[in-house]
Amino acid sequence: MTTGPAVDVLKISGLTVDLGGRRVLGGVDLALRPGRVHGLAGESGSGKTTTGLAVLGLLPPGARTGGRVELEGVDLLTLPRRRLASLRGRSVSMVFQDPSTSLHPMLSVGHQLGDHLRHHLKLDRRAAREKAAQLLAQVRIPNPREALRRYPHQFSGGMRQRIAIAVALACEPKVLIADEPTTALDVTVQAGVLRLLRDLCDDLGLAVLLVTHDLGVMSALSDEVSVMRHGLVVETGPRERVLTAPRHEYTRTLLDALPGRHTV
Ligand SMILES: Nc1ncnc2c1ncn2[C@@H]1O[C@H](COP(=O)(O)OP(=O)(O)OP(=O)(O)O)[C@@H](O)[C@H]1O
Ligand SMILES: [Mg+2]
Repeated sequence: MTTGPAVDVLKISGLTVDLGGRRVLGGVDLALRPGRVHGLAGESGSGKTTTGLAVLGLLPPGARTGGRVELEGVDLLTLPRRRLASLRGRSVSMVFQDPSTSLHPMLSVGHQLGDHLRHHLKLDRRAAREKAAQLLAQVRIPNPREALRRYPHQFSGGMRQRIAIAVALACEPKVLIADEPTTALDVTVQAGVLRLLRDLCDDLGLAVLLVTHDLGVMSALSDEVSVMRHGLVVETGPRERVLTAPRHEYTRTLLDALPGRHTV
């Protein structure tokens, strides 16, 4: 974790994305800091997922990008593909709505976490197994050693998402992009997964971008919030300010639609 004044670990400026000849992002600005959760809300199709995928370099072939995505001062958009691939999952990681996106159904949890650790951190088999068990403990999976031998389908949805988070954390990223991480989960387990993300952010000094269309979730968890509409960030600022004194009319509309204000 950094000491002294917080610096932006990820700085997105003027990010444009064209997909299939259509401008999907029109110049997005966002800044993430270590140990802070930045909530990103906005209506369906506003470009939240596209922003995350652009940071990870995972846009579909043919996508055109402009602007800058700087990770600790290095522009990811102009990096050669191979260097970007080595940064992906190491410096920036992503957790998706559906945990099965990140988990292989035919491999035990220990096998896939271990592979990841051996590949990225160059650990030997034994050290990788040790670290895998630690990671499962960190995401609060009960009996982590025994859990390593089980397969993804043997866990509940909430536990699977925790394992997907463990995979995302395996290489000690600085930035974690969580795209609707609890939308697919039963409402009774959503809060636990969100609390986990908040704690990981606090304990590890991770910078988290929490993508959600649920303003209640966002307000309960975030330090800063941004609101997207039509491929642009229309409002950004500290949570309290944006939620109590929104400057953009669209943010006000979103807040008015919120059934009762959630705060921590
Ligand atoms: N592969 C693609 N090719 C062409 N257009 C795409 C592609 N993926 C997304 N889009 C378009 O880009 C725009 C932004 O989509 P995106 O998925 O980023 O929105 P979102 O804010 O994540 O929405 P949601 O809340 O529904 O997840 C949408 O208009 C969508 O139709
Ligand atoms: Mg999306």
